[in-house]
Amino acid sequence: MAGRLALVTGGTRGIGRAISEALRDAGYKVVANYGGNEEAAKKFTEETGIPAEKFDVSDFEACKAAVAKIAAEHGPVEVVVNNAGITRDGTMHKMSPEQWQAVIDTNLTSCFNLSRCVIESMRAQGFGRIVNIGSINGQAGQYGQVNYAAAKSGIHGFTKALAQEGAAKNITVNAVAPGYVETDMVRAVPANVLEKIVAKIPVGRLGEAEEIARGVLFLVADEAGFITGSTLSINGGQHMY
Ligand code: CAA
Repeated sequence: MAGRLALVTGGTRGIGRAISEALRDAGYKVVANYGGNEEAAKKFTEETGIPAEKFDVSDFEACKAAVAKIAAEHGPVEVVVNNAGITRDGTMHKMSPEQWQAVIDTNLTSCFNLSRCVIESMRAQGFGRIVNIGSINGQAGQYGQVNYAAAKSGIHGFTKALAQEGAAKNITVNAVAPGYVETDMVRAVPANVLEKIVAKIPVGRLGEAEEIARGVLFLVADEAGFITGSTLSINGGQHMY
C-alpha cells in the first residue's frame, strides 16, 4: 500500500488529524482538507509535514476543483476519509432551519461531493477505499441532535449503497462510528451533560482520536478488500447492537 494517495477531510484537527498522521505513518501520501481554521492548519502542516488544502466540503464545485488540483499535484486520490463534521446542537423546538441545513450539508452532502469527485478515477484504476465517519449518535440518536443524528444516520445508508456499487471495481466503502472522543467537538458539550454521558460508557472514559484512526487504517488497507459496507463501532461499549 506504500505511497497510495489519501485525502482526509477535516484532517487537520481532532479525529481527522489522528487519521492523517496514522496514514502517513503507515506509508500513505496524505493530503488533509480543512474548512476554516487557518492557524490550526498551518500548525498542523508545520508539525506533521502533511499538506493541507482549504475548501468547503459542502460545496460540490469547490470539491471538484480541489480534487482536480490534488490529482494534478500528487496523482489520483485512492483513499478518501470523509471525516469533516460539525455540530449545531439544540432541541427541535429551538432549532433553526439554518442549524439543520448546515449540519446536513457539511456532514452528509460532503460524502456525496467527495465520493462523486473521486469515484470515476477509482473505477478507472480498479481500486479505491472510502471510509465515512459516522457516529454513535447516528446509530442510537441523541437528545438535542436531530440534525446531526439524521446526517450521521444518512452516512450509514450512503455507505451501504455505495459499497454495492463499488464492489465489482475493487472499491470498498465502509463506515466508522465513533463514540464520544476527546476532541474540541466533545469538549464543547456542557460539562454537566458530558459527565452523564461518560457515566454511561462501560470503559469509563472518553475515547482517544488515535483509537478511531486505528480502525480507519484497518479498513483502508489493501488487504481489506473483502470488508465493504460495514460499520465499525468504536465507542467504549456505549452502544452495542
Ligand atoms: N434525555 C432526556 N432529557 C434530557 C437529556 C437527555 N439526554 N438531556 C437534557 N435533557 C433535559 C434536561 O434534563 C432538561 O430538563 P428540565 O428542563 O426538566 O430540567 C431539558 O432537557 C433541557 O436541557 P438543557 O438545559 O440541556 O437544554 P438546553 O436547551 O440548554 O440545551 C442541548 C440542550 C443543547 C441539547 C444540551 O443539552 C446539549 O448540548 N446536550 C449534548 C448533546 C450532545 O451530546 N452532543 C454531542 C456532541 S459531540 C458529537 O456529536 C460527537 C459524536 O459524534 C459523539
